[in-house]
Amino acid sequence: MEFIKPVEWKDNTLYVLNQLKLPMITEYNPKQTAEDVFHAIRDMELRGAPLIGIAAGYGMYLGIKDMGDTDHESFMKKMKQKGEMLAKARPTASNLFRAIERMTQRAEDLKAEPVETKKRLLELEAIKIQREEVEINLRIGENFLTLLKDGMTILTHCNAGCLATVDYGTATSPVYLAKERGWNIRVYADETRPYLQGARLTAYELSMAGIDVTLICDNMAGMVMSQGKIDAVIVGTDRVAANGDIANKIGTMSVAILASHFNIPFYIAAPSTTVDINTRTGRDIPIEERNTDEVTNWYGRRIAPEEIKVYNPAFDVTHHELITAIVTDKGIIYPPFCENIKKIFG
Ligand code: MRU
Repeated sequence: MEFIKPVEWKDNTLYVLNQLKLPMITEYNPKQTAEDVFHAIRDMELRGAPLIGIAAGYGMYLGIKDMGDTDHESFMKKMKQKGEMLAKARPTASNLFRAIERMTQRAEDLKAEPVETKKRLLELEAIKIQREEVEINLRIGENFLTLLKDGMTILTHCNAGCLATVDYGTATSPVYLAKERGWNIRVYADETRPYLQGARLTAYELSMAGIDVTLICDNMAGMVMSQGKIDAVIVGTDRVAANGDIANKIGTMSVAILASHFNIPFYIAAPSTTVDINTRTGRDIPIEERNTDEVTNWYGRRIAPEEIKVYNPAFDVTHHELITAIVTDKGIIYPPFCENIKKIFG
């Protein structure tokens, strides 16, 4: 299956598909410095937890790629500076911090190598982070297919597809794999206010791939569930805490409560890069608040009164009691989550 590429690495440059302009305009913007990557993540030119991690890996490399010959201490000082800067881009997705840590640790392990070798191997490490996500997504999809059947309809929220990671995506992986097997899995996509990842990205990538997708406004999810149209909910995640609480796009918790009310299984698609056992519970996950313009404006036009008070949290936490299973690349995790997450990731 051919997937839309959210980033391409070529000639020491990260070409980023500008997701702010999708689906109307397909435009790749070149990023040549760690600062460029920081802005792309912060301004959501690219987004989605795994993709943020992938971009951060390249950002770390771009931050040191022009360094001349120097001692290891100065090299590490620069790596750490770039890491601290990139870490401020967005606070919720654990993939960002994991990629920065991984690149910093790799540089530390290369202590004995000359600068040119360090740089070459750090570029390869960033490429490796990207390649590993493809494998992870495939394994998540395979694990999901043991829970789903041909002809089922799932509901998803936000975008956890090829535009949020690479290739199969996480929540979309079973849908794409099912299609490759000749199954038909239909999807209802919540539009996902305020940034509209569902309408602009999920509906776009699934329809481009020939998947049967129906777009609904967020407040229609309860209605379609009550009509018996949904067999399962599958969403991605930005961070899984040690007790099984998960953070995902704002609105996910409401969908989970609805699914519980209508007795519909609620599944989390979680790459191991998103599981953070150092975060004890959902209460410990930092929740990003974004610019109020995302709520008061619609494509550059004001839709709310001037001076109105606005609250715009970008994520919410779904309590583990609302989750049927967390499907990872390392296996399917059922309650009790605390114990079972520890068995795999502890
Ligand atoms: O604000 P975003 O678009 O970065 O939020 C994305 C999500 O919430 C996704 O569901 C999550 O990152 C998982 S992507 C595989």
